[in-house]
Amino acid sequence: GKGNHRHFMLKEIHEQPAVIGDTLHSYVDPATRTVALPALPFDWNKVSRITMTGCGGAYYVCMVAKYWFEQIARLPVEVELGSEFRYRAPPLPEGGVCIAVSQSGETADTLAAVRYAKAQMQHILAVVNVPESAIAREANVVLHTLAGPEISVCSTKATTTQQTVLLATAIAAGRARGTISAAEEARLVAALIELPALINEAMNMEAQYRGIADGVLAEARDVLYLGRGTSYPVALEGALKLKEISYIHAEGYAAGEMKHGPIALIDELVPVVVVAPNDSLFDKTASNFEQVKARGGKLVLLSDSDGVKRLGPQSVATLTMPAIDPVVAPILYTIPVQLLAYYTAIAKGTDVDQPRNLAKSVTVE
Ligand code: M6R
Repeated sequence: GKGNHRHFMLKEIHEQPAVIGDTLHSYVDPATRTVALPALPFDWNKVSRITMTGCGGAYYVCMVAKYWFEQIARLPVEVELGSEFRYRAPPLPEGGVCIAVSQSGETADTLAAVRYAKAQMQHILAVVNVPESAIAREANVVLHTLAGPEISVCSTKATTTQQTVLLATAIAAGRARGTISAAEEARLVAALIELPALINEAMNMEAQYRGIADGVLAEARDVLYLGRGTSYPVALEGALKLKEISYIHAEGYAAGEMKHGPIALIDELVPVVVVAPNDSLFDKTASNFEQVKARGGKLVLLSDSDGVKRLGPQSVATLTMPAIDPVVAPILYTIPVQLLAYYTAIAKGTDVDQPRNLAKSVTVE
């Protein structure tokens, strides 16, 4: 049941510290601060390329993981929508690994993408929440997200546990390939272990999420989400969540793309949610923020206390996240975009758990 929560979505958002903790329990060893993955049937040193595939929110998780595999393990990564990949049928290299990401493990396009990659002799890793699913059965190795059953159509805890598993996997690949040191591995594992507590902090600002939803987002016809680096897919995820359950038109953009077109949309009526953790790209995002401000955009800033100190005075609203290691930040910053969408849907009175036209599992193309 929903326990004392009004919707499954809210219950599942609140389960995230616990289920991320459970997931970490299987993939990291807190005593040695190392990652511990199941045995893989290939050597990371012989991997020529990773192809990641998924649909919807799972595709955005793949986009975040691309940065991790590239930065931590120095591996080339392609990210593919299941529905495009399966018909484009691109050549795949020898020694390639295909990572499929799916909560249900039953998404038709992701399954077809996996079958194609398998026929192309790729090793298949499945990051799934349902271990006895079709995608899991096709895989050489199943990396189980321990999110527990997800009922809400809008995915929340599956998303953040997928991110957690993939960051652990990128660290394992980096260690095997010698692209990160033992000290760096220990730092990243420590940051992962700290994550559930930081997510708890990020959730404990209900009045603020509600205030921004009621006062800024629910009135809007269009909302833009901006981010750079790993915050770019978080922006895409935020826009998808808002569309799915509040029916407000929303788009996620790479912050640097604003001046190539979308800035023409900006006026006093368009809220712009800027996902700006305190990372090496903060200054770049800050200058995009100022460009939007100069056109009268209504800025909602997601950052930590340093970022809020800098850009807060120019924002209509701010959400101060706890300070966090930039590598892990996309997982933490997924929480506020979930809660903003949730409270906006509440303000609009939509059917949060069962949004119109959508199914939990898309088993037909
Ligand atoms: O079960 P899957 O993870 O394969 O589902 C993929 C998408 O259908 C799913 O992420 C969808 O976009 C969600 N409703 C997002 O909240």
